Amino acid sequence: MLMEQMTVNEKGMLEFAGRPCDELAEKYGTPLYVMDEELIRNRMRLYQKTMKKEFGEDADVLFASKACDFKAMYRIAKEENIGVDVVSDGEIFTAFAAGYPMERLIFHGNNKTDDEIRFAMEKQVGTFVIDSEEELDAVEKIAAEKNRVQRIVIRVTPGIDPHTFEAVATGLVDSKFGAAIETGAAMALVKKALHCFHVSLQGFHCHVGSQVFDEEVFVKSADAMFSFAKDVQDKLGFECKEMNLGGGIGVRYVEKDPQLQIEQTMIKLAKHVKELCGLLKMKLPAMRLEPGRSIVADAGMTLYQVGSVKKIPQIKTYVSVNGGMTDNPRYALYRSSYSVVCANRMNEKNQMLCSVVGKCCESGDILQEHVLLPDTVQRNDLIAVLTTGAYNYSMASNYNRIVRPAVLMIHKEGEYLAVQRETFEDLIKNEF
Ligand SMILES: Cc1ncc(COP(=O)(O)O)c(C=O)c1O
Repeated sequence: MLMEQMTVNEKGMLEFAGRPCDELAEKYGTPLYVMDEELIRNRMRLYQKTMKKEFGEDADVLFASKACDFKAMYRIAKEENIGVDVVSDGEIFTAFAAGYPMERLIFHGNNKTDDEIRFAMEKQVGTFVIDSEEELDAVEKIAAEKNRVQRIVIRVTPGIDPHTFEAVATGLVDSKFGAAIETGAAMALVKKALHCFHVSLQGFHCHVGSQVFDEEVFVKSADAMFSFAKDVQDKLGFECKEMNLGGGIGVRYVEKDPQLQIEQTMIKLAKHVKELCGLLKMKLPAMRLEPGRSIVADAGMTLYQVGSVKKIPQIKTYVSVNGGMTDNPRYALYRSSYSVVCANRMNEKNQMLCSVVGKCCESGDILQEHVLLPDTVQRNDLIAVLTTGAYNYSMASNYNRIVRPAVLMIHKEGEYLAVQRETFEDLIKNEF
């Protein structure tokens, strides 16, 4: 089975974290995001434990909350004592509302508005990741107005190809994020930051891309970042105190995807970084990693109900479900792969080739193509799309005025709704 928390009961029904899918659908309705809290906590612990063991006590893991950003996630991150990366005032607000300690937030984004900068400072957000010269000027100005010295790191584009989809590759010179080493923009930004009175430069950040399976990509990013830090040290006399190598560890969505071992990948990276620091005669800075997907993706699944099975002879078969690109736009955006099963026919043979599609008025509203399901699939059957814990809820929309599904969290002692299903009233609540 692709996901470790899945089993099949004697009725041929899929069970997720010990809960039969028919009971979940009956009790909470569909579509439904179902998440395994134990797995999320275990991943956070594994990351943090390995981080501290390999890089020392001042190292920290930050959960990239864009992957899954509702209040319960910030509460879990707080309880598991890990940092959090946010990218907007809305994420800061949600973390604040959840009682997450603001000084542990690190604030990303390639275009922080003045209002967002003010808001973040008012909320005492710990660290800003500076993305451009204009942003540095704005942070310096607003910090001066507030009589504050803001901790910052600078986002650097190291020029590393992550060998992933174009839309989630962020580390090359043509990226909209950060200042490139290659063009001299990164060095110029550091120089400027060192002349500011109201920011305190701590170090550097990079994130080269998402869904990366090649461990060498992380090693090469470290090479580029540390040699940049050394260059800065030699030319400007600034010693890097904090080095953040971003997130990006790939996740197994389908059987053929490799399974990257988080712990082994981190151990390998730590060994390389420590050797690198020795070679460059640099002190090991406080290290940061900011995984998103690899903490939550395989902790989640989405449960749908079938509406129709449309067989177009010799051409195609469509299985339509009661959700779609509104709760999971990733196939429409990136042709992302997912494993799809018929949750109430797990013991039947999967022999019908079909496309599993949503209910939006868009031909592109597809959850997955080239899926094999039992040829008995019919209206009211349950379809489970697996590994939907990352970038599904957080990317959901109300297109076609479809309400966003509930998020059900399952843990050892029971289950609770982390997010309730939206209502029609929610859809019109801001309208006059
Ligand atoms: C700056 C930054 N850090 C971390 C992440 C998390 O990446 P992933 O979910 O692939 O681990 C992202 C994702 O877009 C990002 O932009």
